[in-house]
Amino acid sequence: MILAVAAGIAAARTYSAIVPIPQSVVPGEGRCLLQEGTAVYASEGLDFEVDYLLGHLAHVMSFEIPRTMEPQEGGLSLILAEGYAPEAYRLEVTPEGVLVEASSSAGIFYGIQTFLQMLPPAVYGETSLELTRCYVDAVSITDSPRYGYRGTMLDVSRTWFDAEHVKRLIDWMAVHKLNRFHWHLADDNGWRIEIRKYPQLTREGAWRGDGEVTPAAYGQGHGRYGGYYTQKEIREIVRYAADRHIEIIPEIDLPGHSRSLVGVFPDMACPVDVSYISANGETDNVLCVAREENYRILRDIFKEIASLFPSGYIHIGGDEVDHTAWTNCPHCQALAKEKGLEGPQELHSWFVYRLEEIIHGLGKKMAGWDEIVISDAVYDRSALLYAWRSVRSGRMSVEKGYRTVVQIGEYCYLDMKQSPAERGHSWAGIVPLSKTYSLEPDEILTGGPADSALIAGVQAGLWAELMAWPPRLMEYQLFPRLCALAEVGWSSRENRDFADFEQRLYTGHFSRLYNMGIAFRVAPPEVVYDSASGSLQVRPPHPSAVVRYSFDGSAPVASSPVCTGNIVTDRPEQMRFATFFGDGLSSIAVGASNIELYSYIDPEMTVTCNFPMSEGNLASLAKRDGTGYSGRVLQAGDVLAYTMESPVTCSRITVTSGAPSSGMFYVTDAYVEYTTADGSTVKAGELYHGELSFSPVAPVTRVRIVMTDSNDGYTAVFRGLKIEK
Ligand code: ACM
Ligand code: ZN
Repeated sequence: MILAVAAGIAAARTYSAIVPIPQSVVPGEGRCLLQEGTAVYASEGLDFEVDYLLGHLAHVMSFEIPRTMEPQEGGLSLILAEGYAPEAYRLEVTPEGVLVEASSSAGIFYGIQTFLQMLPPAVYGETSLELTRCYVDAVSITDSPRYGYRGTMLDVSRTWFDAEHVKRLIDWMAVHKLNRFHWHLADDNGWRIEIRKYPQLTREGAWRGDGEVTPAAYGQGHGRYGGYYTQKEIREIVRYAADRHIEIIPEIDLPGHSRSLVGVFPDMACPVDVSYISANGETDNVLCVAREENYRILRDIFKEIASLFPSGYIHIGGDEVDHTAWTNCPHCQALAKEKGLEGPQELHSWFVYRLEEIIHGLGKKMAGWDEIVISDAVYDRSALLYAWRSVRSGRMSVEKGYRTVVQIGEYCYLDMKQSPAERGHSWAGIVPLSKTYSLEPDEILTGGPADSALIAGVQAGLWAELMAWPPRLMEYQLFPRLCALAEVGWSSRENRDFADFEQRLYTGHFSRLYNMGIAFRVAPPEVVYDSASGSLQVRPPHPSAVVRYSFDGSAPVASSPVCTGNIVTDRPEQMRFATFFGDGLSSIAVGASNIELYSYIDPEMTVTCNFPMSEGNLASLAKRDGTGYSGRVLQAGDVLAYTMESPVTCSRITVTSGAPSSGMFYVTDAYVEYTTADGSTVKAGELYHGELSFSPVAPVTRVRIVMTDSNDGYTAVFRGLKIEK
């Protein structure tokens, strides 16, 4: 299968589909043949790079490639030489051999990455193609990155990703010449790094569920959920990343987003009895600014972190702080008075200033989200800022003279939806591949070259509240958008072109991702119904893409017929289409975008429940598109009922829950039953991830959602019934 995929979309030249696109690619004459007898020579200090290269070549070649003490005619040479920029390299492929030259092992590593992309994609696979010979077209490549900082941020707090998972991500980053991994290690919903001095942080703070210090969240249920990295694992991952020329920047998110910390050490919060709900729906998640003991604990924590991570930076978060507690805390207010701090933003500024003192004392520099400089009343120093909220906040960061990493939501937040029908957030908008690719930091953030020098680079962000389900959503959200971001970070503006990038994905890079075992997003076809010709016009996402279809409203499967052109039909609303790649990857199923795909009926009904919900919400829930929020956490035995004005005959009823866009706060534990016109009650089934579809056996007079346990989150979101004719 790997062969078929590789052969089906072979690139025109072995260097035609490199991602990120190199600075200069000059075709050469002829080609280089790798075969029995091909050897590798490398300068001293490149042992890892040689092993990395040979390890990959073993997935393609049937023969061993020995390392020799002298360069060999027709062989591979990795040479350290003066004169290259820090991560730059030159790659020469001629009939006489392959040369990678650079001034640093990082440059050599990137030259190897480019070379590997000229080989069959099985070079990234698990098994070997066992070729006896392999050609690479002659070419001369000179290459260097546009930005020094090319990152990926992973939130391991909301959804837990174990050490193996993180290493795989680091491998995938390395292929894309990404060089910074921003590890979001602590947030409200889980503390993920062992701290020897405070073992309770992971013994208690790394777990959530019933009876744990952090409650169940994000649909992960009532069982004990979580995990953490031991310091041994952290050191191992740091080394693993460093070998691949990736620096890890650890983040502990403070003083907001600190529920897991406050859960373990309640005294770290302000001693006030006020309730607030943070931007992420958390309570009690803000540290007291005035409590001196807090800074002692944080220093202890950062001391261990500083010794684990060689990076020059420690990221302290600093985002989305709810100020209610500070405003009500006598200690915070006394501190504000004593120091002349006006309002909570200046208390925030004070907190950041205190943390920077600690971090400088540990020989590191501080990094933080862009809110840390909203007020520079106290804090006005040297941090590396991560612009995330908006283009405007990015501009603010640059205008204030801070070195800035661009992780702006509308381009870089890969937890956003890739199209409206897909899973994900949308507060920063829909973020399709083209949007990520279109990021031009200099253009959107700066007024000239002086400002441009402040842009450290770009970073993808993957927040994980929606990542636990469905399986491998992390890979789906990262790829191929991370490939686009890698090209934004690496390639020059003149060389970047979205159509060309997509062509390289389809003719080469998707096969590489596939061989790496990445469950990347496959784009669906575009389908419209043309009533004049009575046909569905199907446009695959690329001429090479395989589209399959179904006749009965179900999602096409691997054995569904292949669509080879437009389809004449008198039942256009029944047909669904999906794009397939290799074994097992397919897009979402779509129908024609310009016709109604479902025939709904909207009977009169009233909605009632035994728990608090506003009249407006109850009225809303009587409509198909309605939404209603529970005024408290649900309990076993709670019931929400949709009562029809008269019996409803229908083919199918779909019960959904969860916030309309993201699906968060869905009803986790409930079953659905309905009453028929003759008065009998039928159990339809249990909600699965907040949803259930069923076909009633008789006309329906009432549908009841019966809770069997509490939901997670401070509210539960109900939705109007979808009733099909
Ligand atoms: C963030 O997304 N709160 C940095
Ligand atoms: Zn306080």
